[in-house]
Amino acid sequence: MCGIVGVVGLQDCAETLLDSLKRLEYRGYDSSGIVTRAAEGFVMNRAVGKLGALSATMRDRPLSGRSGLGHTRWATHGGVSERNAHPHIANNKVAIVHNGIIENHAALRDELRAAGHEFASETDSEVLAHLFLAAFDQGMSAQEAGAAVLSQIEGTFALAAMHVDHPDMMIVARNASPLAIGLGDGASFVGSDAIALAPLTRNVIYLKDNDFAIVTPDSAQIFDAAGVSVHREVVIVAASQGMVDKGGFRHFMEKEIHEQPDAIAHTLAAMTGTDGTLSTPLSRDDLQAIDGIVMLAAGTSHYAAMVARYWIEALARVPVSCEIASEYRYRKPVTGAFTTAIAISQSGESLDTLMAMRHAGEAGLRTVGLVNVPESTIAREASLVMPTRAGPEIGVASTKAFIAQLTALICFAAALAEARGSIDAQRRDEIHEHIRGLPSIIGRTLGLFDDIRPLAHSLTTARSALYLGRDVLFPVAMEGALKLKELSYIHAEGFASGEMKHGPIALIEEGLPVIALLAADEVMGKAASNLQEASARGARIILVTEERAAHVVDFADQVITVPNVDPLLAPLLLTVPVQILAYLTAFEKGTDVDQPRNLAKSVTVE
Ligand code: F6R
Repeated sequence: MCGIVGVVGLQDCAETLLDSLKRLEYRGYDSSGIVTRAAEGFVMNRAVGKLGALSATMRDRPLSGRSGLGHTRWATHGGVSERNAHPHIANNKVAIVHNGIIENHAALRDELRAAGHEFASETDSEVLAHLFLAAFDQGMSAQEAGAAVLSQIEGTFALAAMHVDHPDMMIVARNASPLAIGLGDGASFVGSDAIALAPLTRNVIYLKDNDFAIVTPDSAQIFDAAGVSVHREVVIVAASQGMVDKGGFRHFMEKEIHEQPDAIAHTLAAMTGTDGTLSTPLSRDDLQAIDGIVMLAAGTSHYAAMVARYWIEALARVPVSCEIASEYRYRKPVTGAFTTAIAISQSGESLDTLMAMRHAGEAGLRTVGLVNVPESTIAREASLVMPTRAGPEIGVASTKAFIAQLTALICFAAALAEARGSIDAQRRDEIHEHIRGLPSIIGRTLGLFDDIRPLAHSLTTARSALYLGRDVLFPVAMEGALKLKELSYIHAEGFASGEMKHGPIALIEEGLPVIALLAADEVMGKAASNLQEASARGARIILVTEERAAHVVDFADQVITVPNVDPLLAPLLLTVPVQILAYLTAFEKGTDVDQPRNLAKSVTVE
């Protein structure tokens, strides 16, 4: 949700700002802009649309200067237009970029207007520029101005501000939205995440909520909300420069689908102890003390939680509640039955999930962060981290991170079950062995691209599609529907197949595509009957199943098969064809696969 970057003390910094924005475009791509402090004062380029538009403007009108700010926007307050694009400049003296929402912006704007300030945009962010302007105009120092502005604003923010009279200085601050300060050699940087800073420096400071900092080419002085100087650790991040390369694929999503065998293998390695058995970051005593688990997540990560509920309840006999993070955080949940909250997030930055995790922590639950980005806010705030090792996921639609989440969660379920005595060590090791075989089986499913292409082509003209699954495949059906709708803008819903007859079956009409997920499990016969009911009413059944189960639905119109696996692992395997179907449908339709409309990769606003 908006990416921000800043540089102080680097010759011709505009190019570096643009390059860093490319690494942050996953956070939003409604508009973008760069301001630098040139000899004549602030100079700025802004453009509506993806970063390519700004790059073209920068070629036509290069910006000089050693310090500057950049922003890529996901619109919240104010429509998508150039005047609402960041940076915002107040009176040619203060330039700011902001990620988050200033909740009291209307009241602040009224006060500032009454004091003579004139606004150029409809954004909440522009008040920040005017608040800094007012502070500096009153003769405050940078430190005083930082404290004064922070004391007036409510909401979530990562911000960076510059004053024209202090060309080699930036004031930055954060609350709930992520912000990293990078310390380089003779220059300093800020960015929404370490990926933005990857080629510039690995020495990073993460601010705590309500901290602000004064950043110069060779220092970062940090203050807490009260304006008291504080020390924050410099961490060495593992981010590497090559992480945003498409590696010869047409899209990041295509590349990331192909990286799934590695994502499983690396995540499994992180969940395997030195003795070679399944292991978790929780000790055996910790596992035995778990009486109930709340899973907190959003979107695709929520579907991973829902799959895990079937596994954990079946294997470990521990109750699990799966909560949509944005709902949970404002509920007054009854937590008595639960001892542990697992926050699941690829980015580790989804504000809803972060807040839900804090809510659970305040209610006395032990918090575990299942995250893919080790330097993320959820990773830093959770009492324990369970890592997924999918590597950086750039495509906005999550693929390999979901598979890695499932891998970590099935490992966790088996380890928990063994620690609690509901399965023995032999069964745990058997499950481990099956997971070990997954990378090569999933590797084989990647050969399905050619089989699925004609099917994807036929879906491009569909107005709607249904995804059906039963038991542990129900969440996979919802994940398949989410992938199709977000990438190709075709309306799609995922249903529990047994639920169809209670209402949704009314949607079935001649030729409606129904993507049916089926595994050779206990409910296979019942799931097949549900599909029969849809087929009898004219649905076009596209069966996605294991080889050994295909014969059960002999009335299917089209069949995609994957190799047979242990029924526990069917959700991982059957996910791959639905990802490929969504990818190819979007590709055939010509939509922007990696950056679908209205979306952003990391959702750091409410
Ligand atoms: C869909 C998708 C989103 C994310 C959701 C949570 O393809 O990627 O639904 O899963 O925004 O994001 P994280 O996992 O980063 O918290």
